[in-house]
Amino acid sequence: MAKAPSQKGSNETVTLTDNATGKTAEFPLLKGRLGPKVIDIRSLYAQTGYFTYDPGYTATGSTESSITYIDGDKGVLLHRGYSIEELAEKSDYMEVCYLLLKGELPNKQQKEEFEHTITHHTMVHEQLTQFFRGFRRDAHPMAIMCGVVGALSAFYHDSTDISDPQQRMVASYRLVAKMPTIAAMAYKFSVGQPFMYPRNDLKYAANFLHMMFGVPCEDYEVNPVLAKAMDRIFILHADHEQNASTSTVRLAGSTGANPFACIAAGIASLWGPAHGGANEAVLAMLGEIGDRKNIKGYLARVKDRKDPTMLMGFGHRVYKNYDPRAKVLQKSCHAVLKELKIKNEPLLDLAMELENIALSDNYFVERKLFPNVDFYSGIILKAMGVPTSMFTVLFALARTVGWIAQWNELIEDTEQKIGRPRQIYTGKGRRKYVPISKRR
Ligand code: ACO
Repeated sequence: MAKAPSQKGSNETVTLTDNATGKTAEFPLLKGRLGPKVIDIRSLYAQTGYFTYDPGYTATGSTESSITYIDGDKGVLLHRGYSIEELAEKSDYMEVCYLLLKGELPNKQQKEEFEHTITHHTMVHEQLTQFFRGFRRDAHPMAIMCGVVGALSAFYHDSTDISDPQQRMVASYRLVAKMPTIAAMAYKFSVGQPFMYPRNDLKYAANFLHMMFGVPCEDYEVNPVLAKAMDRIFILHADHEQNASTSTVRLAGSTGANPFACIAAGIASLWGPAHGGANEAVLAMLGEIGDRKNIKGYLARVKDRKDPTMLMGFGHRVYKNYDPRAKVLQKSCHAVLKELKIKNEPLLDLAMELENIALSDNYFVERKLFPNVDFYSGIILKAMGVPTSMFTVLFALARTVGWIAQWNELIEDTEQKIGRPRQIYTGKGRRKYVPISKRR
């Protein structure tokens, strides 16, 4: 995981003038390999006594990164320079994991070694199974994921020294390898079935399907079309640069917290309905709409600024065009439904009708609101028999490699400091303490 040389140096500067005082301050202009120029404001406070206000970080770059690039206006997503469409079509999840973690696609031998290593880390410490039993059966699997993944740091002490590159790599392998096992265990626990051990003869996605849907009393034959579709879903969710959960992982990591704790923080952040929880919310929304005839009324509520209803699976902070992952998933969705001989899936029909209407409606066109990755993923997962409460868990499983690649990059980045934003204070000014006997 050698750090790529920085691309961001530039001789250009930007001068800011304070209109109140006439004083000027000069700031370097940085430029990545792709994307717009960036003003380096690190010396802003020292030079001017001001800092910036940017809730939601809509205009703030928090790091340089060589992992993923998004051009939201054009709907482009590249991992280490390779387009998501090409990776989804020609690659597989293990190869994408290697690419994200190590920077290059593996050759044949490197791929075999990597898959062997991941496969041989899929079992979890047996005592971890006891840990599961402390949860209520009706716990949301994401609640279980937050707890169990955080608890990994209590089981794997030999990979929590973040200053040791070897330990960091072992922690990375462990997280990628164990997430499907833990995710399937969270599901099995919720339905009261025995946990299934991983099988080393199966590929990553097929192994997950086996642990999720198999039972010890009979053989479970993995459907290769479904395994391929699941592998593709994993690829499409593998990384997405500095989104909320990745930024959470980086923020936690910036304090020196161990990788298992950082990934647990990422899982918690992903859970929200504005982020990874949206795929679950899309199905709830489609269920609520229920019928084509209700679409118009639902969209009227979405467009009513006084009504908090959102069109779930639509809109994105960065994409102001079709999310390229949603396009790939729309195709996969049809393949899965065909394989499962599901004709006229009402939810898919409803989703496509909703998409058609929304894409030609001025409210969505003007705001550049397009379907995002969550719009179709829920429908595929539902068709595969994955319960709704597991949708975000699968997102977390697939995103773990992105989180851990970004965490490794953070640790190796000598420019990174503890993440600590400032604020505009709007509370009371300094005042005298009043003893309780004198308070009214
Ligand atoms: N339905 C209706 N209106 C929307 C939607 C939506 N899904 N998304 C954005 N808007 C509106 C906003 O209300 C705002 O309108 P206004 O200008 O009249 O005030 C305008 O479009 C701009 O939206 P913002 O909220 O400023 O966009 P932001 O970048 O802050 O939010 C977000 C992006 C959180 C993804 C938002 O679009 C959303 O909540 N979408 C629904 C949830 C969802 O699908 N999340 C998954 C995102 S993808 C992922 O995390 C994997």
